[in-house]
Amino acid sequence: MADKLHRRAFAFVIIAVFMRGKHNTASALGVAIVGAGVVGGGVLRLLRRNAAAIRAHCGRAVTVAAIAVRRPAAAKKRLAREHSELVTGDWREALAHPRADVVVELMGGTGAAADCMRAALKAGKPVVTANKAALAECDILSANGKAPPVFYEAAVAGCVPVVKVLRESLAGDTVAEVFGIINGTCNYILSQMHRERVSFSEALARAQKNGYAEADAGLDIDGADAAHKLALIARLAFGAQPSAKAIAAKGVRDLDAMDIRCAEQLGFVVKLLARAQMRGGELALSVRPELIAREKMLAAVDGAMNAVIIRSENAGETMLYGAGAGAGPTATAVVADIMDIARGCPPPPPPPAKPPKLQKQEKARSEHYLRLRARDKTGVLAAITGLLAKNKISIEAIHQNEPGDGARPTADIVILTHEAARGQVAKCAADIKKLPDVCGDVVMMPVARGGK
Ligand code: HSE
Repeated sequence: MADKLHRRAFAFVIIAVFMRGKHNTASALGVAIVGAGVVGGGVLRLLRRNAAAIRAHCGRAVTVAAIAVRRPAAAKKRLAREHSELVTGDWREALAHPRADVVVELMGGTGAAADCMRAALKAGKPVVTANKAALAECDILSANGKAPPVFYEAAVAGCVPVVKVLRESLAGDTVAEVFGIINGTCNYILSQMHRERVSFSEALARAQKNGYAEADAGLDIDGADAAHKLALIARLAFGAQPSAKAIAAKGVRDLDAMDIRCAEQLGFVVKLLARAQMRGGELALSVRPELIAREKMLAAVDGAMNAVIIRSENAGETMLYGAGAGAGPTATAVVADIMDIARGCPPPPPPPAKPPKLQKQEKARSEHYLRLRARDKTGVLAAITGLLAKNKISIEAIHQNEPGDGARPTADIVILTHEAARGQVAKCAADIKKLPDVCGDVVMMPVARGGK
């Protein structure tokens, strides 16, 4: 009996040693890193620092085969010695390296970065990228059926796992709406305007000083960055393939500190929200500043943080919160995608053959905030409310701030409407602006209702 047990134990040890050997000797996954700036540098650091844990997790090592940068001499000084030896000035060389199984594109932009991703896919190499602009504007994902996979968690909201949750956790559910704060720079600017009572330009200067804004700040403050991310969300959640231009984003550049104060007086905060919502069989996509009630969870998302709410039929509301940018969070998401490839996880699915119809921007329905300045004289309010009635817009509330004094006193008037189509409200706002006693523009923002 003892002999039998010994023989069994011996056999078990042999099998265990064999399995362990097999596990550890699975061939390493080689990556070519294209772009070693803030994010690329972060990826290299993480791959080096956590090499053992990554290997244990994936059952195989992840090794860096080549690193392509624009200025090799400078990069060689900056990078760790084991990496500086791998540097080249030519991304084609890195991509063609025989040990580069995967190409990690972290150059950014829509020129060479898109060429690099296309070349990698053509060469049969999977791609990992954080480049939302190239994915949303260039034709990279459309071939993603038979072509090697493209992984892009880092492109959507940095380390907030929006792609993974849509792709995996909610894969069996039907998503009705995805909305949230997906541009940290704008959220920082708005938080500063609310909390520190500074103007837009002062808040932008602070965002730039803290390194939040993109090199081209226009991408952030005019809403293009959020539109790029929303295009990727719409693809994952609804199988849509919108061009970023179809989203017609509006950013925070024109926000007046006066509207921040007025929103606060009414119990709201202003947030730049990206929203993809199925309504009446059409997909409504928007990026614009919206008013949210102060007690909502999104209203509490402060500074450069991101938060996304996914509303789905069975799961209800799922809220994801975290850092949407920066070397650490973005590099973490990139490394997780590389590890998914190392473990053979399935990539994001290609969109269905028949994408949903996109709703026209002017048809999008919501409650609205309107703010205008008018001469404080008899009949002005009647003329304004008359135009709202004429345009079939129902008023929920009207507030008039203390009139200014002087020879020609003015009053700031804020109107909250019941639900109406954006086009209808925009037309009414244009009519109000033409009234002889109305001074300047009529500010218009949607009011977000519903949601936690
Ligand atoms: N500039 C972006 C932001 C991060 O502020 O959220 C990268 O998309």
